[in-house]
Amino acid sequence: MHGEWSTRLAFILAATGSAVGLGNIWRFPYTTGEYGGGAFVLVYLLCVAGIGIPIMMAEVMLGRRGRQSPINTMRTLASEEGKSPAWQLLGWLGIVAGFTILSFYSVVAGWTLAYVFRTASGVFQGATADGVTSIFGNLVGDPERLLAWHTIFIAMTIVVVSRGVSHGLEKAVRFLMPALFVLLIAMVGYAMNTGYFAAGLEYLFTPDFSKLTTKGVLSAMGQAFFSLSLGMGAIMIYGSYLNHRTSIARTSIVIALMDSLVAIVSAMAIFPIIFANDLDPELGPGMVFKVLPIAFGHMPGGTFFGTLFFVLLVFAAWTSAISLLEPVVAWLVENRGYNRVFASAWAGVVTWLLGVVSLLSLNAWSDYKVFGMGFMGLFDFLATNILLPLGGFLIAIFAGWYLSRASSLDELNMGDRFAYRFWRALIRYVTPIAVGVVFLRAIKVL
Ligand code: TRP
Repeated sequence: MHGEWSTRLAFILAATGSAVGLGNIWRFPYTTGEYGGGAFVLVYLLCVAGIGIPIMMAEVMLGRRGRQSPINTMRTLASEEGKSPAWQLLGWLGIVAGFTILSFYSVVAGWTLAYVFRTASGVFQGATADGVTSIFGNLVGDPERLLAWHTIFIAMTIVVVSRGVSHGLEKAVRFLMPALFVLLIAMVGYAMNTGYFAAGLEYLFTPDFSKLTTKGVLSAMGQAFFSLSLGMGAIMIYGSYLNHRTSIARTSIVIALMDSLVAIVSAMAIFPIIFANDLDPELGPGMVFKVLPIAFGHMPGGTFFGTLFFVLLVFAAWTSAISLLEPVVAWLVENRGYNRVFASAWAGVVTWLLGVVSLLSLNAWSDYKVFGMGFMGLFDFLATNILLPLGGFLIAIFAGWYLSRASSLDELNMGDRFAYRFWRALIRYVTPIAVGVVFLRAIKVL
C-alpha cells in the first residue's frame, strides 16, 4: 500500500523540491537584512552543517524505518524499541507546525502569483524604487486580492496532494529548479553591474558580530530548519517512500548543499541592488518583491525574464507546500480511512482558514499585535523559531538516544565507520545541546 519513489533521483528531487522554495528566495534575504548580514549568514551556515544535516539524516532514517505518516512512524518505532507511545506527540507537533507554516506560506505564494501578472503587464518597466514599493503596498493592502491569490494557491496544493505527491513532481523539479537557478545566476550578473556588488558581498560575507543578537542566532537556526524543511515530518514522510538502497548520508548532504546555495545566490542578487538604490537592508518580508522588480524594470528583456522568474518561484513554492500538507494527509488516510482527495481538501481548508487570519493581519487587522507582531509575523515566529527547533530537538533525542544503536546502524547502512560514529556523536550531543542552548538563551532562561 505504501508507495516508493521510482529511483534515488526521484527522492532527491522531491526533497529538494520541498527544501528549495520561498524560504530560500523570500525568507532568507529579508531575515539576513533584519539581523545585519554577515554574522547571521555565518551562523545560518553553521546551523545547516551542525544541526541541519544530522537532523535531516535522522528524519529520513526514521521515515524509511517507520514507512508511515510521522505520527504512526513515531508510534511504531517507539514500540519496536520498547519506548513510550508518547513519542507520537512528535508527529502531532509536526502537524501543528505544518498547518501554521503553510497558512502564511500560501499567502506569500499568493503574492508571487500576483507578481507573475504584475510583471507580465510591464508595469515595472523603468520602475523606480519608490514605484515598486508602492505597487507592493497596494497589493498587500488589498485583502480581496490577497484572498483570491491565497485561495488559488491552496487549491493548487490540494490538487497535487490529492493525486499523490509523486505525480508530476519529478518533472517539475528536474526542469524547473535548474531553470530557476539559472535565472538567479543571471540576476547575480545584473547585480554585478550595479557598481555595488562588492558592497553586497561584503555585507553578506564579512561577519560583524556586534550586530548579532540572541534573537538573531535563534532566527538563523530557525531559518536553517525552515529552509531545509526540517523539524515537522515533511522530510520524514518523504523518507518513508525511500527505498532501502539509497545512502541517506550522501543524499542529505547533497540536498542541504543545493538548498544553501540557492539561498546564498539569491541574497547575492538582492543585496547589491538594495545598496545601489539606497534602500534599507531592513526591508522586511516585502524584500524580494520590492527589489528584484527594479532589476526587471531595467535589464534587457526584463518583462520576459521577470515573469519567468515569478512563474518559477511559484513552482518552487508549490513543490514545498505539498510537503507541508503531506504528513497530515497521510495520517488522515491511514487512521481515519479518508480517501486522499477528501483528506487533502479537509487539511487544505483548515490551512486556508488560518491563512485568512494572516492575510487580514496585513491590512484590516494591522492594529492587532501580539508581542509586537501581527498575526502573520507571529505565526511565522512561533512555527519557525519555536516549533521546528523543538521538533528537531526531539527527533535528535529519539534518533540518538531512544532508537538503539543497532537500529540506526542498520538503517543508515554506512558501516560502523567514522562517518557513522561522527553522525551519532552529532545527533546525540552536538545537535540537541546546540538547539537547547540557543533556545534557552532566547527565552532568557540561561
Ligand atoms: N523549505 C521550504 C522553503 O524553504 C518550506 C517548507 C516546506 C518547510 N516543507 C517544510 C519548512 C517543512 C519547514 C518544514 O521554502
